[in-house]
Amino acid sequence: MTLTAELQTPEDAARLAKAETMLTPRFYKTDYAAMDRLDMSPIRAEWDAMLAEYEGDNNHDHFTRTPEFAAEVAALSADWSPQLRRDFQDFLVSSLTSEYSGCVLYNEIAKAVSNPDIKQLMRYLTRDESRHANFINQSLKDFGLQVDLVGLKRTKAYTYFKPKYIFYATYLSEKIGYARYISIYRQLERHPEKRFHPIFKWFERWCNDEFRHGESFALMMRAQPHLLQGANTLWIRFFLLAVYATMYVRDHTRPWLSEALGMDPTDYDYRVFDITTAISRQVFPLSLDTDAPAFRAGMDRLCTIAVANDRAKARGGLLGKLQQGWCAARASLCFARLYLLPVKHSELPREMRVAPSW
Ligand SMILES: [Fe+2]
Ligand SMILES: [Fe+2]
Repeated sequence: MTLTAELQTPEDAARLAKAETMLTPRFYKTDYAAMDRLDMSPIRAEWDAMLAEYEGDNNHDHFTRTPEFAAEVAALSADWSPQLRRDFQDFLVSSLTSEYSGCVLYNEIAKAVSNPDIKQLMRYLTRDESRHANFINQSLKDFGLQVDLVGLKRTKAYTYFKPKYIFYATYLSEKIGYARYISIYRQLERHPEKRFHPIFKWFERWCNDEFRHGESFALMMRAQPHLLQGANTLWIRFFLLAVYATMYVRDHTRPWLSEALGMDPTDYDYRVFDITTAISRQVFPLSLDTDAPAFRAGMDRLCTIAVANDRAKARGGLLGKLQQGWCAARASLCFARLYLLPVKHSELPREMRVAPSW
């Protein structure tokens, strides 16, 4: 992997946060009137129990830095390689952008709706995501890279998603976020000597927030069973593959995890897929067969194409453009073949909630 330039200023960090590529987190808008019409009465008991958990707010004091945090960063970062420094900063900016993306979306929904169930939930989600984003931003500040979140909200492009796409995509990103963070946390429990930044100590309770956010979207989908049946299963399949493939390519084109945390990116990613697949049976009647040799070969092919695409981009000029077009066509074909692979089917369980037991 090539070493890209280190982020030097808050403007560099903001530019990275604003970037629009296939692999960078986006900001979303949706149909707020449709959100307002959602009816949670079919799952009232589960819904009220979940809102009570948010009300209890067991993480209200979690996202504050300890007095020794900054000194620990200074001591540990002295040993980082330039590549790790660059990739970790990139990880912080990308995580900040996706936390803040949730914060902005949930806050816009909360402001736009009068439906008390949805308004209340969205306020809790906004509360949590704003804590997460601010906590990461403090770590960027240690490098002089704090991102102006108000400016980001004003200037980043927004993608419109129908509510059903918001449900599929957000549910998956919350659950995969849980699976990623808990896998890193468990690895560092086994290998504390690999903990190269104190932020990882926060991951266990942090990912329980993400898990609960995912539970909320699971309940919203279970209240609208048509979203989980018929032609909509084709969309579920699409979002599962899009989310898995994006993660796999990103982790394999920036393999800082393997270097710094002592994890092989392929093992890590398939572990994250296993956890996400096990959880998502609570709501999706199908799952991807991530152990199938054809699936694994297709994921690796996507990575090879992504590397060729980066090379073409770096080359520039007409030839570079043509090569990028060729990479895009090959990636689409590869994605289509992955999409058509057989999937596993399962019945939705009567019990809608899952416990974060990984
Ligand atoms: Fe979050
Ligand atoms: Fe979340």
